[in-house]
Amino acid sequence: MKNASPSLTALRVAMRRAAHQLYDAPPLVFNDPIAIQILGPHAVEIERTPGRNPANKPRPFSVSLRAFLVARSRYAEDLLADAFHGGATQYVLLGAGLDTFAHRNPYPSLRVFEVDHPATQPWKRELLRETGLKAPPNLTYVPVDFEQQLLADELHAAGFNAATPTFFAWLGVVPYLSLKAFRETLNFIAAHPRGSGVVFDYGQPRAVLPLHEQQARDSLTARVHVTGESFKLFFTPPQIAAELAAFRTLEDIGSPEINARFFANRTDSLQMIGSAGRIVSAWV
Ligand SMILES: C[S@@+](CC[C@H](N)C(=O)[O-])C[C@H]1O[C@@H](n2cnc3c(N)ncnc32)[C@H](O)[C@@H]1O
Repeated sequence: MKNASPSLTALRVAMRRAAHQLYDAPPLVFNDPIAIQILGPHAVEIERTPGRNPANKPRPFSVSLRAFLVARSRYAEDLLADAFHGGATQYVLLGAGLDTFAHRNPYPSLRVFEVDHPATQPWKRELLRETGLKAPPNLTYVPVDFEQQLLADELHAAGFNAATPTFFAWLGVVPYLSLKAFRETLNFIAAHPRGSGVVFDYGQPRAVLPLHEQQARDSLTARVHVTGESFKLFFTPPQIAAELAAFRTLEDIGSPEINARFFANRTDSLQMIGSAGRIVSAWV
């Protein structure tokens, strides 16, 4: 990330979650009543981008990307519910971006920590002020650059309790990290008590993708690159399994499983195609 600039990719993924509320057929896969409100002045931009509005020319990879983004948020919140009912008392959003969970939190006793890059978090808080969304009392903001700071130290200073079961969501962040920062964060999560867990998504390396998916990847890579947040880190499923060896259980799902779980029997074309993006969860 460019040090002084808030994350543009955070805005773009939030716009696609908002587009889901506006344009996809019911039932919504990820129901987020404030996904549009949190965009503030950016909300007017949603319908201008082709592929987000079905009235525009259909672009299957764009629809697939929106499907992936809403599926990963839904998956994370489904597993958070399991973690909470299993005893987790803290939810940490790593690279929170414009995620709205803290403002929709149905669990009054759950503490929420939003961790994000020091350039992105103040921008989100300013957007919240502009839109009139107030920070709930059980939310704590923790500015951290995973490449420069130790997550454990910053969370500890913010009142986080490392001795209690905690669920971590790390959505849309891993591809932007160095391997060192990725591993340090995973090691920190793996050291939590039983009942703790993590969900994140990752991309497969370009070389293992079929040709037409390589072209879609190149196009996405180029669009992301101009934001100053270049992709760096990719894994194959066996590589991810090796990275997560310290965890007790692991689920790693790609398009077939994601479509079967979240997009079956839809009346619209919302579903994932291709094999590039995967979602993984692991439990301590
Ligand atoms: C694509 S956005 C995803 C945001 C959010 N998780 C979501 O799904 O809407 C990437 C997020 O990662 C954060 N990020 C990227 N590099 C980071 C770093 N080195 N340290 C902390 N946060 C980082 C950005 O600030 C941004 O919020």
